[in-house]
This record gives sequence, structure tokens and C-alpha cells, in this order.
Amino acid sequence: MSFSQSQAEMPSTKRVAVIGGDGIGPEVTTQAVRAADAALVNCEQRIEWEWFPWGTDYLFEHGSMAPADFLDQLGDFDAILLGAVGHPRVQDHITLNGLLLPIRRRFDQCVCLRPAYLYEGVESPLRNKTPGSIDMLVFRENTEGEYANVGGRVYQHSDHDIAIQTSVFTRRGCERIIRAAFEQALNRPRKRVASITKSNAQGYGMVLWDEVFAGIAQDYPQIETESLLVDRAVMEFVRRPESFDVVVASNLFGDILTDLSAILVGSMGLAASANLASNRCHPSLFEPVHGSAPDITGKGIANPLAAILSAAMMLDHLELISAAASIRGAVSSLLRSPDRPRTPDLGGTGTTDEVGSAVCALIK
Ligand code: NAD
Ligand code: IPM
Ligand code: MN
Repeated sequence: MSFSQSQAEMPSTKRVAVIGGDGIGPEVTTQAVRAADAALVNCEQRIEWEWFPWGTDYLFEHGSMAPADFLDQLGDFDAILLGAVGHPRVQDHITLNGLLLPIRRRFDQCVCLRPAYLYEGVESPLRNKTPGSIDMLVFRENTEGEYANVGGRVYQHSDHDIAIQTSVFTRRGCERIIRAAFEQALNRPRKRVASITKSNAQGYGMVLWDEVFAGIAQDYPQIETESLLVDRAVMEFVRRPESFDVVVASNLFGDILTDLSAILVGSMGLAASANLASNRCHPSLFEPVHGSAPDITGKGIANPLAAILSAAMMLDHLELISAAASIRGAVSSLLRSPDRPRTPDLGGTGTTDEVGSAVCALIK
């Protein structure tokens, strides 16, 4: 056996940083790690998980959401798995700008991928939708746009209080997210891309976006395109969700549209996401679309499937393809069967732990 063959057959270990975060974050992340471990049982590969206690409890104790060098600490991992950030006792811009948003920026996680698929056994709030009829993949720009964090406040606490919040759209930023969307559409049967802006009112940044979209579309004559204003788009998401395949939108619009796409396919508790770094030297981050859900925190009823499906996206990214497929298969079987546990958001009486256990049992 040659040296290179024996190297190739060596079991490899991937290192993943886990940040449970706030609220239901740790509850659902625990189940995601369990499911990934169950899926890896029959593989040569292993994941070494390192949990970090960062988040708002850490802030209460230490005065910051994470240690000053947290981004350096994360830089060496193969991926990051995150639960959620946000606490009712602290303003969200403080908690989110102390943890999640700097991670997206530091590691240039410019593509946020958010699938929405109507599983068999799950009811859409829209009438008469059949399994698989809603199947969209939103590409959300993730490092600039309305989230560029450019602006400031002056004359605070006076009648002349001024707040300036600037959106930043760069040709490079628009090009890379829009091209990524087109490339993905080539691999999907329906081959459609919808771009969503508000360029009738946002006459600089979003006009640049529209121009870039029209230019890149020329390179993909086999892809059908449409360009919608966001107000029209939310209406069409409800009226004709089946017509959407790949959707590409700015940071803020992608954020809003993916709470809508999540509920169209049944629940926030099913919506997974990947924040993909532009360069594989940096870790990508995987997390549910939902937040810390303070209204159900600690009740043991949070749906862990969004976190579990986010872990499946992470396994795909780490090229642990069969493990990812086994998680997806287990989630589909679970949802298909009315006798298996499901959490209240899906009309059941099951707990987070029962659903996590059922997924693990189905993986085996
Ligand atoms: P949310 O997503 O936390 O909750 C919205 C609704 O969906 C709530 O009724 C909640 O109970 C329900 N829900 C969410 N996830 C669920 C799950 N897994 N199972 C069952 N039900 C679920 O949105 P929000 O209430 O607007 O935000 C709460 C906090 O989370 C805020 O502090 C917000 O800033 C933060 N947030 C963080 C992230 C993140 O870390 N990525 C994402 C969104 C919101
Ligand atoms: C999401 C969240 C975050 C976002 C918030 C918490 C900053 O809503 O990931 O969807 O808007 O990016
Ligand atoms: Mn959101």
C-alpha cells in the first residue's frame, strides 16, 4: 500500500465549535450535536465538539458576550454550530453585535443559504399545498447591505437626537451572492432565480444590485429569471410560493423573507441555515433561522429540527455527505409519520428531547 493510499484511508476528525447561546439555543443545539454523532457512528470520520459558554449569561457574568479574542479562538475550527443569541433583558443590538454579527463579518460569511421545503406530513398555513410543492432556496447576502453597521448617533438624549444608518452595496458583494445563486440554480431541476430588491425607492445600492443581477443573468441563458420589488415579492410568496426556486436578496430582505418562507412550510422550528465563508480557510457557521424564542425557553418544547437540519448542512459542508443524508432521511421519516413525536409548533405534544431521540433512533 502506498503512503498516499494509507493517508486517504485514515479516519479524520473535524473540529467544530459549538455556541449554544441564549434561550432555546442550547436546548436545540444539544439535539443537533446528538443527531450528528448518531449519523457519524457508521463513518470513519469523527467530530470533536468544543462547547463555548458564550452569550448573554456570559455577558451578565463577564461584561461581554464572549472573551475579547473570541474571533481568534474560532478561526482554527472547521465549522461553527450556533443555537441563537438574544435575551429579553438586554437590547438586541448589543447581544447580536457582541457575538453573531462579528462572526459573519470576520470570517466573510458572505452567502447565507436558507432552504424552505414543505415536508410530507407537515401542513402549510396556506390551503391545499402538497408535499414538496414549496421548495425554495434563499441566498441572502450576509456581510454588507443594510447590516453593514455604518452610521452613528449624535445629540443623543436631546430633542435633536440624530441616528444615521447607512446601507453599503458593493459591486463585488452583489456579484458574489448573485453568482452563487445562479450557480446553485444550475443544479436544481427548475432552474429559476428570482432577485428581490426595492430599487424603486432605494435608488443607489439596490439599483446597483439590479444592474449586477441583469448582467450576471446574461451568463446563464438556461436560467429563467425574474426581478421583483420586495413588497410585491411578499405577496407572491403567499400567492404563488410554488413558483419560487432560488431566490436572491439583500441582507435585510433575505432575513425577513426567510421568516416568511419558514412559516409557509410549517414552522420556524424547521428552518435551517448555513453562513458560508468566502474562503475555506475560514470556518462557516450553521444555525437555525429562528431566534432564542424567550416565550418557550426552558419549557422543553422547542422544535430541534431546524438545528438538526442545520447540522446536516454543516456535515455536507464538511464533506460528510452520507451522514448529512442520513439525518435528512430521518427527519423526513419522522415528519411523515403521524405516530412519531412532534413539538407543539407542529401540532404535537412531544418534547425537544423526545424529537431528538426519535431522530437518533431513525438514523440508526
Ligand atoms: P424567534 O425566532 O425567537 O421566535 C419567533 C416565534 O417562533 C416565537 O413564538 C417562538 O416561540 C417560535 N419559535 C422559534 N423557534 C422555534 C422552535 N425551534 N420551536 C418552536 N417554536 C419556535 O424570534 P423573535 O421572538 O423575534 O426573537 C427572539 C430573540 O431572538 C430576539 O432577541 C432576537 O433578536 C433573537 N434572534 C436571534 C437569532 C439568531 O441568533 N440567529 C435569530 C432570530 C432572532
Ligand atoms: C437571523 C437573525 C439575525 C439576522 C439577527 C438576530 C441579527 O434574525 O439570522 O435571521 O437578522 O441576521
Ligand atoms: Mn432573522
